[in-house]
Amino acid sequence: MNELKSPLLKIENLQTQFKTSEGIIKAANNVSFEIYPGEVIGIVGESGCGKSVTALSIMQLIPKPHGEIKDGQILYKNKDILNLNEKEMQKIRGNEISIIFQEPMTSLNPVLTIEKQLTEQMLLHLGLKYKDARLKAIELLELVGMPDPKSILKKYPHNLSGGMRQRIMIAIAISCNPKLIIADEPTTSLDVTIQAQILETLKSICETSDTALVLITHNLGIIARYAKRVIVMYAGKIVEEGNAVDLYNSPKHPYTLGLLRSVPKLNSSPDANLEAIPGNPPDLNNLPNGCSFQPRCYLINEKCNVEPTITPVSDQHRTACWNYTELN
Ligand SMILES: Nc1ncnc2c1ncn2[C@@H]1O[C@H](COP(=O)(O)OP(=O)(O)OP(=O)(O)O)[C@@H](O)[C@H]1O
Ligand SMILES: [Mg+2]
Repeated sequence: MNELKSPLLKIENLQTQFKTSEGIIKAANNVSFEIYPGEVIGIVGESGCGKSVTALSIMQLIPKPHGEIKDGQILYKNKDILNLNEKEMQKIRGNEISIIFQEPMTSLNPVLTIEKQLTEQMLLHLGLKYKDARLKAIELLELVGMPDPKSILKKYPHNLSGGMRQRIMIAIAISCNPKLIIADEPTTSLDVTIQAQILETLKSICETSDTALVLITHNLGIIARYAKRVIVMYAGKIVEEGNAVDLYNSPKHPYTLGLLRSVPKLNSSPDANLEAIPGNPPDLNNLPNGCSFQPRCYLINEKCNVEPTITPVSDQHRTACWNYTELN
């Protein structure tokens, strides 16, 4: 996708599964994509399509033993990090690759002060003395737009608002100058103005430090504003990938088209119905044969009984639909 640089992260045929009482769920099913240094990519798709599982697989935080990365490679700077042991992986997590989760209350420790939580990784990974880590923590809080950083350091997560906690999560994520940040629905629970402030902060931090960003969200508007390249997932698979402008102007998968049509438009009449995609995402325990999208698709024909492989439609655009030329 980008011939000038080599990828920072290259995921090849990732297969992550969960054993459940109903059988095995293929939550990330043959997922392959690349991220280049400093690039912002977006991952979209309905609930349960495997976005978080893909993110957690990169960090190797899939809950064991019922969850397992069954196959594939995750090459970080050309090295397969799936071969690393837990101690080696700890040197990557937070240091080279950071993750920001949707709900900071579950990621921040309720009984530790912000100072303790913000300095922890810097002490571990950067080998700073406590005094210096504290000074850097103050700088980080300023960078993410927190008022009165010294007093914030003394506080506990429950003393802060949702937006403030999310900023703390960003400060922790960037504290060791990672090369890649994965933001998994980082602003879903926040109001729109705070969302915009937080995303702008994240974007400018990534631009200044040439950090790559994977933005996972349901919100196609957020993706359109921030991501250069978009990955669309459905039922554990990538069904379309392309640069954001191409994909928005000329989607090549009926699912992407459905997602785009279900977004309200400013100029549409208040009485107009939104075009929702019919039906629901499939149960991963009970996928249809062939294309997983076929029960909801209007382009269906006999070809769809064979599972489509993702193939290029142009230089930077690929789709997993046999009938994409008939989209309208
Ligand atoms: N710990 C787990 N145990 C069993 N199944 C799981 C587990 N975590 C995820 N799954 C299943 O894997 C599939 C993908 O889940 P994932 O959390 O990646 O979805 P998502 O795309 O992030 O959805 P959302 O938009 O709701 O966050 C779902 O069917 C989910 O039920
Ligand atoms: Mg998720």
